[in-house]
Amino acid sequence: MAELVVVVAGALWAMLPAYVPNNAAVLAGGGAPIDGGRTWGGRRVLGDGKTWRGTAVGTAAGVALAFVLNAVNAFVADTAGLAAGALPVFPPLAAFGLAFGAMLGDIGASFVKRRSGRERGAAFPGLDQLDFVAGALAVALVLAPAWTLATFTLERLVVVLVATPVLHVVTNVGAYVIGVKNEPW
Ligand code: CTP
Ligand code: MG
Repeated sequence: MAELVVVVAGALWAMLPAYVPNNAAVLAGGGAPIDGGRTWGGRRVLGDGKTWRGTAVGTAAGVALAFVLNAVNAFVADTAGLAAGALPVFPPLAAFGLAFGAMLGDIGASFVKRRSGRERGAAFPGLDQLDFVAGALAVALVLAPAWTLATFTLERLVVVLVATPVLHVVTNVGAYVIGVKNEPW
């Protein structure tokens, strides 16, 4: 049990810089869409829901959070009674990879949604909950390969794949209820 707590804590800590960008983008969104209004096959390439500002602010928020987490790492581990090193420390490239990768995964999902005829805001169960995980891990793997492989052990990956959809649904329903998001997904 204590072992499981350590794995869950390490896994969620490692993913926090990838979790925050989408939420920050929701708050910061607006302004020019990345696709500049262009269409492909009669449908928007990405749609008005993917903006330069949301992407930039989301990425910056994820990187900033990683640096804050680094600063409080020892204190939190100590307070929670975890061994030193139980919580991952983010090198700058890993922080950027997780944050920007999360945004890129979400942008990729919008591209897929538009190609499959879904309008902006339409739900795509499965893709909506895991697009940013795939993007974050992929870009982190490219920018900080050794760190990513050492940090995302099989145990932590399992936790991430199980816990992320749950956290995603809870935060988005919450954001919808308090009125900052247009749809509860
Ligand atoms: N957002 C943004 N830029 C991004 C991602 C999100 O500006 N790269 C903002 C937009 O205002 C968007 C809101 O966050 O409407 C919610 O994000 P999301 O649910 O990903 O977009 P949707 O509007 O639902 O569009 P899509 O169907 O393409 O996912
Ligand atoms: Mg959406």
